[in-house]
Amino acid sequence: MTFSPNRTALRLLIATLKGGSTKTTTTMLLAISWARRGKNVVVIDGDTTNRGAARWTRRAANNGYEIPYTLLEWDATKPPLSKFAQLAERDHQADVVLIDLGGESPEWFAFACSWADWLLSPVQPVDAELDGIGPTYESAASISDARHEGLLHSVLLTRCPQVKKGMAAEKRRELITDLRDEDGRPDPDQPWSVGAHVFDTEITRAAGYSDMYGHIPDNVGEYEDLLVELENALAELDSDDEDDIEKVSA
Ligand SMILES: Nc1ncnc2c1ncn2[C@@H]1O[C@H](COP(=O)(O)OP(=O)(O)O)[C@@H](O)[C@H]1O
Ligand SMILES: [Mg+2]
Repeated sequence: MTFSPNRTALRLLIATLKGGSTKTTTTMLLAISWARRGKNVVVIDGDTTNRGAARWTRRAANNGYEIPYTLLEWDATKPPLSKFAQLAERDHQADVVLIDLGGESPEWFAFACSWADWLLSPVQPVDAELDGIGPTYESAASISDARHEGLLHSVLLTRCPQVKKGMAAEKRRELITDLRDEDGRPDPDQPWSVGAHVFDTEITRAAGYSDMYGHIPDNVGEYEDLLVELENALAELDSDDEDDIEKVSA
């Protein structure tokens, strides 16, 4: 996969087919962090029920912050989400486009997966939330299979009582284990065991994160580490591509 020759923007989809999984917080803190590094960032609020990203932004503006990204609200009266996002990327000459998507429509999710480079699925390491990972994986995998280049998909453990310990460590082990049957169907008892890629960065459960709602904080906490992890992974993917090109031309 390569991000440079054909177009410039990195396309991130933040979605877990499960409500309240910290999608909006993840979207906003990554967007703010990238904007602070001088990137031209577009956030698309695709959650027509909650409008979390739009509400966060409106509140921040009311709180007197200068908004460092462009916020666009998508709804079903607009062009399909993938088309809408492509137009936004072009019109705003974006370096990074993030979509904060709700779980209300499998069809919108499919469109967004066909658009994205990378699907980030935030989830708390508890069974009630992890149950949403099986369906998220199944839907994303069917889109990924239909594309000539795959869709990157990673799980982000958030609201961890403790990072790298206890539930976070246990559920990470279960997530990276693949218990799917030969047709790729998740195990009914442990549907999150899909051989997932789980970000090394984990987000602690902390009131500080809820307090960031409606702000453009200088310090985005562990999300800064996540951004560095993403950038390093992308740089590695790009250099792998260059190796491939050399092999082909040799
Ligand atoms: N790391 C965290 N620790 C504690 N609370 C958090 C954390 N991240 C988000 N929250 C809170 O959890 C709730 C759900 O988060 P939100 O980002 O709105 O999720 P979603 O967009 O998936 O519905 C919000 O009240 C938010 O402030
Ligand atoms: Mg939300």
